[in-house]
Amino acid sequence: MCGIVGYIGANEKKEFLLNGLKELEYRGYDSAGIAVLKDGNISAFKATGKLDNLKNKTENFNSIGFGLGIGHTRWATHGKPTEINAHPHQGEYSYVIHNGIIENYKEIKEELQKDGIKFLSQTDTEVIVHQFEKYINSGLSAQDAFTKTIAMLQGAYAILLITKDQPDTIFFAKNAVPLIVGKNSENDKFFASSDSPLIGYANEVVYLEDGEYGWLSKEELCLCKEDVCINPSFKPLGKDKIYAQKEGYRFFMEKEIYEQSVVVSETLMGRVNDENIELDELKDIDFDNIEAIKICACGTSYHAALTSAYLFERISKIRCEVEIASEFRYKEPLLDKKTLFIVISQSGETADTLETLKMAKKAGMKTLAICNVDNSSIVRLADATLLTRAGIEKGVASTKAFATQIITLWLFVLFLGRKKGTINSDKMQSEIKAILHIPSVLHVKDNIHEKLKRLSKRYLHGHGFFFIGRDIFFPLALEGALKLKEISYLHAEGYPAGEMKHGPIALADSELFTVALMPRTILYDKTKSNVEELSARDATILAISPEEFELADDFIKTSKQDHPMGEFFEMMIITQLLALEISIRLGNDVDMPRNLAKSVTVE
Ligand code: G6P
Repeated sequence: MCGIVGYIGANEKKEFLLNGLKELEYRGYDSAGIAVLKDGNISAFKATGKLDNLKNKTENFNSIGFGLGIGHTRWATHGKPTEINAHPHQGEYSYVIHNGIIENYKEIKEELQKDGIKFLSQTDTEVIVHQFEKYINSGLSAQDAFTKTIAMLQGAYAILLITKDQPDTIFFAKNAVPLIVGKNSENDKFFASSDSPLIGYANEVVYLEDGEYGWLSKEELCLCKEDVCINPSFKPLGKDKIYAQKEGYRFFMEKEIYEQSVVVSETLMGRVNDENIELDELKDIDFDNIEAIKICACGTSYHAALTSAYLFERISKIRCEVEIASEFRYKEPLLDKKTLFIVISQSGETADTLETLKMAKKAGMKTLAICNVDNSSIVRLADATLLTRAGIEKGVASTKAFATQIITLWLFVLFLGRKKGTINSDKMQSEIKAILHIPSVLHVKDNIHEKLKRLSKRYLHGHGFFFIGRDIFFPLALEGALKLKEISYLHAEGYPAGEMKHGPIALADSELFTVALMPRTILYDKTKSNVEELSARDATILAISPEEFELADDFIKTSKQDHPMGEFFEMMIITQLLALEISIRLGNDVDMPRNLAKSVTVE
């Protein structure tokens, strides 16, 4: 979703701004812009589409020497993705960029329009700059004008504003959307909406908290909350966050599929010994009173949650319910202090998931985050966190983040089962053996990938895909269908295999593609019957199974795994590669699919 960068210093401003926006590109955007204030003048550039368009527009623009710059990638919420609606938005002498949504922008806009102020764009953001200038024009200082403007805003925002009225300062505010301030040893100053643009530029950072705002110049950072000044505490920026590069793969998604074996080993590192699961991160949490688990998440993370619910109940014998975060928020849920509240999010910034966490905290529940991004909003809010350690995931369609989420959850299932005494040592031994085997299951086999490359050409049309499976293979079916939809734009649905006859089978004909997940270790015969029912109605069947299946039109043979999770991860890779190869054949942008964003910071 939208990305923000800012810079104060004497170096070439467009370099940091454009490089920084490039780092945020994977989050999804449809237009971009920058504004640079130097020697009392503001130069602004905007372009729709890819960042290269903006780069071309700024080709002859240079800005060495002290000055300020702000940059933005926009994912449209209010108003179409046009150049006019791209940020920065301008007043008479100021420019603003903003991530999030200003919920009360209509009221503010109406008032400003009554004063004769003309709006250029259809965005909610533009009210900020006009309201700010209105206050300045009424005689307030820029600081007071900004403070009063921010106090009027309702909603989620990360804001940077520059003004000729105060040409050495960037004004900033943060609420429910991430914003980081950075500095380096030359005292250059930076802003970014996540760590990655800052790597290689800043060495110390402050992660702003909700409700914080202020102004930053070369000399000082003034940070406030509710009209009170706060002492900012800079801390070192982790040096281990390396840039993700494609390294010869055609797309980041492909690279990330291939990385899964390595990153899952990382997830397991130091957390499994011969007899037990050690999760040091949870040592201060008392699980004695916990009687049940509630998990909230969105998208792929929701599918990881659904998978884990089977494991919580089957292995650690603890009740587990899973809900989509955007639904949970408004259902007026009954929250029980004896229930552990878990949120799962690869980005740690998903607005709906974050909101459910706030609700749980308010209700006094113990909270745990399963997350891939340290220092993200969700991590900072939760009582405890298990980091999934997938590394930066750039493909919008999540792959390695999903795999590591499930491994982390499985570890936690075992950890909790041991704490609750519901897993005996024999069971623990066999589970540990199974989990340690997963990195080898996750090695992508050349022959399987080649086969999927060839098969993919038969699956570029048709009126839809059904992914079906039972038990943990049902959430995997949901995830397989989501992957395909996200990057191929073909219609795909995931279903429990046993549910097909209750409606969906009406769609079956030769142009309906069924991807059947038929593991050996769980309910093979039951799933087989369901697939036979579809085959009898002439549906085209792509079967994925270790057992030969004579009714399959296409067949991918998996290996004989002893543990259902082994089969799960082997089939997961196959569904990911299938989506990838179909998308490539259709000529789509695999890493940045249309209309999607990597980090969804609006509800
Ligand atoms: C977006 C992404 C999905 C992701 C979902 C939840 O929609 O495109 O890939 O699964 O958000 O994101 P989270 O960061 O909370 O896991």
